[in-house]
Amino acid sequence: MKRTSAKPIATPVATAPRVIALLNQKGGVGKTTSTANLGAAFAIAGLRTLVVDLDPQSNLSLHFGHEPTPDQPTVRDLFMNETMEAKETIRLARPNLWFVPSDTELALVEGELALQENMQRILARRLESVMGMFDVVLLDCPPSLGVLTVNALTVADEVIVPTQAQYLALRGLEKLLETVLLVQRALNPRLTVGGVLLCMHESQSSHGKAVVEEMDQYFAKFKGSGLPWQDALVLRPAVRRNIKLAEAPSFGQTIFDYAPTCAGAADYRALADAIRQRWVRVEAPAAAPAEVLAAGAATQ
Ligand SMILES: Nc1ncnc2c1ncn2[C@@H]1O[C@H](COP(=O)(O)OP(=O)(O)O)[C@@H](O)[C@H]1O
Ligand SMILES: [Mg+2]
Repeated sequence: MKRTSAKPIATPVATAPRVIALLNQKGGVGKTTSTANLGAAFAIAGLRTLVVDLDPQSNLSLHFGHEPTPDQPTVRDLFMNETMEAKETIRLARPNLWFVPSDTELALVEGELALQENMQRILARRLESVMGMFDVVLLDCPPSLGVLTVNALTVADEVIVPTQAQYLALRGLEKLLETVLLVQRALNPRLTVGGVLLCMHESQSSHGKAVVEEMDQYFAKFKGSGLPWQDALVLRPAVRRNIKLAEAPSFGQTIFDYAPTCAGAADYRALADAIRQRWVRVEAPAAAPAEVLAAGAATQ
């Protein structure tokens, strides 16, 4: 039938990777640790995984034992150097796991980008040529809601917010959600919030328990609201505080290289499984048929 043979639009949807931005405008909350170790968990589970370091602090590479050299291509080339092909910036870290390193001079890019037209879509445009090679792409965001983060949100399907269970975290979350909503409305209607990821969690603390309960209630209020965080939740399991997670990058290793049987490895493995199961549940009924119909409509 004519309407279902609309391959040009339907095919990229079927092969597009799931793109997740790990975002919190606060530093030191567990974004990079989570990007590296969730990425490694997805790769071990057989997904072709790309992780992109968007933070000028360039910490992500440490988890893969990668020593930056001045002449190597970085994420900065994606933003500033049109002649550099995206695939030249990608390095293999482990089987099934690739990454784009960052560069301390990325900090200067924020200011330069602000002057460019369509500066919010640069990352989306530049990654287009490599997206078909991956099943999942993780974006390690800088601790700000600036231009680099907006670029990440413009290409992402989902935002995950690494955080601690502390009272002030909720306030920061509201600001972050405001930014997500602006980007979703103006630039990326696909964007959703998967939820918060509790890092360095201490499940015995009574303050922590109260905040987690408050976060659960906070998200429950938005069910069915049509807002990008209507299906968001506090992701389970929480990642427990585990010193091995802090030690692994100093050996150039992910937690699965360094201490594959420790609590930190178990938590990230279980979390990666839980996140994948949610893609199936949240998306299966809604997204796939709608895309096929939209593709059909476009060819009428
Ligand atoms: N579950 C954890 N247990 C112990 N230390 C952790 C854990 N998660 C992160 N860390 C440590 O906390 C610090 C901040 O984490 P990081 O992932 O770099 O945060 P961000 O990227 O948000 O700035 C790092 O030293 C990291 O090793
Ligand atoms: Mg970081």
